[in-house]
Amino acid sequence: MHGGRPVALVTGASAGIGAACVKVFAAAGWDVAAAARRTEKLDEIAQAVTAEVPGATILPLRCDVNSDDSVKDAFDAFRKRFGKLDALVNNAGYGVYGSVEETPLERFRANMETNYFGVLRCTQSALPLLREAAKGNRRRWGAAIVMVSSFVGRRALPGMASYCASKFALEGLSEALRIELADERVAVSVVNPGVTQTDFFKTAEGARPKGYLPPASGMSSEAVARVIFSAARRPRRNAYLTAAGKAGIAAQWLSPRLLDWIMKDNWAKSRKS
Ligand SMILES: NC(=O)c1ccc[n+]([C@@H]2O[C@H](COP(=O)([O-])OP(=O)(O)OC[C@H]3O[C@@H](n4cnc5c(N)ncnc54)[C@H](OP(=O)(O)O)[C@@H]3O)[C@@H](O)[C@H]2O)c1
Repeated sequence: MHGGRPVALVTGASAGIGAACVKVFAAAGWDVAAAARRTEKLDEIAQAVTAEVPGATILPLRCDVNSDDSVKDAFDAFRKRFGKLDALVNNAGYGVYGSVEETPLERFRANMETNYFGVLRCTQSALPLLREAAKGNRRRWGAAIVMVSSFVGRRALPGMASYCASKFALEGLSEALRIELADERVAVSVVNPGVTQTDFFKTAEGARPKGYLPPASGMSSEAVARVIFSAARRPRRNAYLTAAGKAGIAAQWLSPRLLDWIMKDNWAKSRKS
């Protein structure tokens, strides 16, 4: 059974923001279960982080968030190793580009399976452990769930409706869950990154519309991971990470029609070029 250090489980920990979370949580003295499908990547990350952070405990866990059996096996192994969970970081996800008409239904469905049902699956498996952790301490918030959404979880963009819809679904889930768990002191935070320099743009399916931001620009995955870590300790409803993201959300609140109009113009140009 586990000692006194806090424990986090991070999904999608084999690359990008999830891998950066493993490092940030470990550097802050947390034990971390790093979950994803590519176990060889997880082993490399565990090795690198333990070399960099003396005393770190990283547990690589094979976990495909699309599969009931895989999630169950991962949580069984997690429970056996640590016996408690202080923070679940629901980070696994991927992008899909393409217009609504041109994106096959199966691609929409698969995207929703990972980005929404995958989160739901992991959250349901984690809840008993999170509740236990919350009972076992006297902090204002005893345990935390951090959802990695996106700017486009609050404002959809043309040419990526599948991805946007999956993140909108995640936002709805988070809003309801936050209230359901409040009395049990399990906090639900949502982090909404803008463009972040990861493999996201390589692994995204479909064709990126011309004129969308190139992946060379954007935040580092470490900077996003630091916000995720901070949300695990001090919950936030939504954390918008960039000035452009904050301005976009303000504009969406003040005049969604103005944003529609700007995007319509850009979309028309990208279709012509
Ligand atoms: N990069 C951005 O600009 C950006 C902006 C806003 C939000 N986000 C969000 O940030 C999160 C992380 O993305 P990233 O940018 O770090 O991309 P990434 O570098 O491509 O990493 C994606 C991670 O998700 C995992 N994953 C994908 N499908 C999975 C599945 N079925 N089961 C388990 N793990 C799965 C991958 O691991 P395996 O392939 O090994 O399973 C990988 O570790 C995503 O939710 C994404 O939507 C990214």
